[in-house]
Amino acid sequence: MRLRVDLLPHGQYSDVVIVVDVLRATTTAVTYLERGADALLLTATPEAAFVLRGEGVVLGGERGGLPIPGFDFGNSPVEAAAQNFTGKTVVMNTTNGTGAAHTGAATGKHVLLAALTNAHAAARRARAMATEEIAIVCAGTDGRAGLEDVYAAGVLAEYLLAMGTFTIDDGTRMALTVRRSADSPLETLSSATHGQTLLNLGLGDDVRYAAQISTSTVVPVLLEGEGQSSADA
Ligand code: MLT
Repeated sequence: MRLRVDLLPHGQYSDVVIVVDVLRATTTAVTYLERGADALLLTATPEAAFVLRGEGVVLGGERGGLPIPGFDFGNSPVEAAAQNFTGKTVVMNTTNGTGAAHTGAATGKHVLLAALTNAHAAARRARAMATEEIAIVCAGTDGRAGLEDVYAAGVLAEYLLAMGTFTIDDGTRMALTVRRSADSPLETLSSATHGQTLLNLGLGDDVRYAAQISTSTVVPVLLEGEGQSSADA
């Protein structure tokens, strides 16, 4: 079994793809499902999200870390954790994370969403589903690799290496080095470029929330969908 870490999304095929966008799309996606959402739909554009609005459907997303005008929610996991989404479908569109999920959906037979909060459960699910290769795809921010995502990829890789034998690539070696040499999860996320952006926007609670490791067993799995990806726990 091969294990690969892509520091940014690209279209190389894998049988299991784990999409990581710790600050904050995949952390928030896990939280929506934890708070009762029936499903998530991840669209490629805000316009596609507005088209899906309807009975029992709410929209969540951001640009530059701030809520998209006209959406019901931003992309804050802390905000999501305070709501009850039972019976709701949440449509998500974010700057980088939903796009990375679409790349994953285009290149993976099975696509999972992972953050630090569900890292162990995501690794366990990926290991159970994979037959040839697991690719951990870091969303990054605006086309640049994100320290927080590479750190989370290292956490996922450590869990996977404890679950079985893998041939690993240089991306995995780099992610493991980041994980093993880093300070605490919170210090790592806070020092990341996007973590700094969120702190400067007064969204430090989201950074603290996203820094929790393996507190959730919810693993969003993307299902086939026309033009959007949906996720089920
Ligand atoms: C992203 O998709 O890049 C992130 O979710 C951005 C954010 O929520 O701040």
